[in-house]
Amino acid sequence: MGRTSRFTLQSSEITPESISQTPSTPTELTSDPRFQAVERTIKQFQCRADALIEVLHVAQEAFGYLSDELMAHVARQLKIPFSQVYGVATFYHFFSLEPRGAHTCVVCTGTACYVKRSAEILVRLEQEFRVKAGKTTEDGGLTLSTIRCLGSCGQAPVMVLDGETVGQCTPDSAVVAVKALQESGRPRPNDEGGVRQEGGGGRTP
Ligand code: FES
Repeated sequence: MGRTSRFTLQSSEITPESISQTPSTPTELTSDPRFQAVERTIKQFQCRADALIEVLHVAQEAFGYLSDELMAHVARQLKIPFSQVYGVATFYHFFSLEPRGAHTCVVCTGTACYVKRSAEILVRLEQEFRVKAGKTTEDGGLTLSTIRCLGSCGQAPVMVLDGETVGQCTPDSAVVAVKALQESGRPRPNDEGGVRQEGGGGRTP
């Protein structure tokens, strides 16, 4: 089931009134020191709507995820519909609408990786760590997600652990790498055939 937002508006519902009807920015948010970084960026771009992605980047970096309240605030400041902010935030994989776990694992499900059975890797990780793709484990230790092509197709199947690419994964090596990440803070390279490397290798459609 997809995530729903209490602020989500259907395109047919978008009116100037619908924007202003979203709740005002809560004090808990405006009093948060991280909020100032977002405000500075909005002012730096003079509240221009075309600064949306830059503002969301700063918000994501500051808070670790984009809450409904934060997105609603950005919508009001940039004078754009909440649905536009929500649409951008859900389109790009680097934005998260929920708090991320201490570690992140992204499994590529693009064509080259799919052919090399990345779906089996994903299922194995879901079973081993008891978390569905797109979700975070109950203890907040791991967020598991998917992406369609990382641009490293030559190393398929590929996953990314805490921002670092691991190629030629198998279901077993993926589990070993994630466990190593959780235990030591960094995955061990070359575990059971997994090759850790930085990008490259081309991209499949
Ligand atoms: S399809 Fe997985 S890296 Fe391109």
